Amino acid sequence: MANSQHTNKIDRPDLEDSTNVVEKHEKLLEISASQARENQISETGMEPVSLWVFLASAIVLLIGGGVLGAGGKLFSYNPHPEGYTRPDFASDADTGPTIGPIAEALAKRGKNIYAKCSGCHGSTGSGDGNQYPPLAGSEWVTGNTARLAQIILNGLSGPIDVAGKTYNGNMPAQAPLTAAELAAVMTYIRNEFNDVGDVVSVEQAAGAIRVYESRPQGAITVKELDADHDQMLEGEVVDPSTSVNFETLQPAAAE
Ligand code: HEC
Repeated sequence: MANSQHTNKIDRPDLEDSTNVVEKHEKLLEISASQARENQISETGMEPVSLWVFLASAIVLLIGGGVLGAGGKLFSYNPHPEGYTRPDFASDADTGPTIGPIAEALAKRGKNIYAKCSGCHGSTGSGDGNQYPPLAGSEWVTGNTARLAQIILNGLSGPIDVAGKTYNGNMPAQAPLTAAELAAVMTYIRNEFNDVGDVVSVEQAAGAIRVYESRPQGAITVKELDADHDQMLEGEVVDPSTSVNFETLQPAAAE
């Protein structure tokens, strides 16, 4: 009885305006706010840290840091022992000659360009014995220079036999390279990893770049190399001992 009376009272419109709507809504909001907090705790299992705990930690860290920082040599940031003098920085400019044999000038420059290749072919040109073929002892490196230049400029795909082993991977094109850069890296891998004993001149490399530009883009194959590029690069053969300026690669006598 009491129950049905109670329900009736709520269902009936509040014509007398006896309910304080603001108060009721506040109650509702309170419940939902605390419920929300409860829900969050059950989801993350974490309760916000009290402000006092936070402040107390900050003070401990502040004082602790001050004590450690002030206390003796534990946190001394002078890295050098007493009496230490810093050695002079040796730059390219003041080591080695600026005039010397062209073989040396190209190989020195080629060593820097070779950084493009060493990730795959290894810093000593030995490859990885699996995916990346060696440049040391490779007939593709020591053989005809036109083939070698086109491999470097175009990249290579499809099977290739290197030093008695078949590889079948993809080498990405290394162009754009300037003629001097191409000549340098070719000279470097022919003489540093092998002992061919000649230089690829900048003029010869420029010719190879012209051939590369006249060919459709895309990695080259062994078939195309054998058919079209199995020859030495055209151009005057340069004596490896020719004296040049290391910067310009021009004969030193012309200076
Ligand atoms: C991303 C890896 C990668 C880079 C970088 C790369 N190569 Fe290659 N290179 C290969 C792969 C793989 C092959 C074998 C491709 C195939 O199987 O057809 C190859 C083949 C060659 C060959 C013919 C095979 C041999 O070992 O003699 C030469 C020469 C060569 N690369 C030179 C270079 C030079 C020089 C550079 C840098 C200017 C260079 N490569 C940069 C992956 C690379």
